[in-house]
Amino acid sequence: MTFKNVGVIGAGNIGIGAATDLVLHGINCVLVDISHDQLEKANEEILKNIRFAPLVLKNSPKVSKEEVLERLKLSINIKDLSACDFVIENVTEDWEIKENVYKQLDEILNPEVCIGCNTSCISITKVGSVTNRPDKIVGIHLMNPVHMKPTVEVIKGFHTSDDTLEKLHVLFKQLNKNSIVVNDMPGFVSNRISHLFMNEAVFVLQDQVASAKDIDDIFKKCFGHIMGPLETADLIGLDTVMHSLDVLYESYHDPKFRCCPLLRKMVYAGQLGRKTGKGFYEYPKV
Ligand SMILES: NC(=O)c1ccc[n+]([C@@H]2O[C@H](COP(=O)([O-])OP(=O)(O)OC[C@H]3O[C@@H](n4cnc5c(N)ncnc54)[C@H](O)[C@@H]3O)[C@@H](O)[C@H]2O)c1
Repeated sequence: MTFKNVGVIGAGNIGIGAATDLVLHGINCVLVDISHDQLEKANEEILKNIRFAPLVLKNSPKVSKEEVLERLKLSINIKDLSACDFVIENVTEDWEIKENVYKQLDEILNPEVCIGCNTSCISITKVGSVTNRPDKIVGIHLMNPVHMKPTVEVIKGFHTSDDTLEKLHVLFKQLNKNSIVVNDMPGFVSNRISHLFMNEAVFVLQDQVASAKDIDDIFKKCFGHIMGPLETADLIGLDTVMHSLDVLYESYHDPKFRCCPLLRKMVYAGQLGRKTGKGFYEYPKV
């Protein structure tokens, strides 16, 4: 069994990466978003990612612009996913938005189709509960830049079946990816820990203990991390980090997950990190 037509819903940060990865590995992709502008941006980014892939990735397939255009279909109509044999969902980290999308996907997709749910913190079991196919919903925590990350945190919801995990394994094999399977609790392993880290770094900045650069440099130059916590938040998107902290706070009712007021203020000010060109740092337009 191989996957030939995979749907991607949500053409933001992660959706762009997921679509890049599919097209790069010879899989047709239908990319759906509610915004024409976002789809246009996604198209440009995917072409750029694929052009640069052989320069930044060892053993990357070489794919021409014509092949990309042949394999990639952009749409604002969710019904265009109906012929897909697997769907990767990456819409905004907001429960109401995700709930609505899953209810629609459940109606549109063939009953045997599995959905890979890309969320930072929302419980996969909760996502599965709004569908009639909870055994076919599996968490796939793709990380930026998706096509350059060899390993994915995979989350097994309460009802996720072994057959679904096996199908995901087949898809990941086509994409040259490995996985680490964990059980379902909000935030899983990665974000339950990393969001505390990023949030506390913003508190440290808010308390004027150090500049953003010094905070990050301590992690990079003293601990040897590749990126500091504030750079990581900028890469993820400050809105996504804020929404994720809110989900963690609501899920555990533990004050350690309360979102730093400075982080919230930056989101309201539209400074979302790399995707808007300004967050804790400024980013030149490329
Ligand atoms: N950014 C990261 O590093 C990261 C990492 C892992 C997981 N995630 C998770 O992946 C998901 C997507 O994150 P992102 O950073 O790509 O977000 P994003 O804000 O960059 O993109 C979300 C996209 O979803 C679209 N969208 C909203 N409602 C929609 C609908 N009803 N139908 C179709 N499209 C819709 C938006 O227009 C937007 O383009 C989130 O759940 C997030 O928590 C993000």
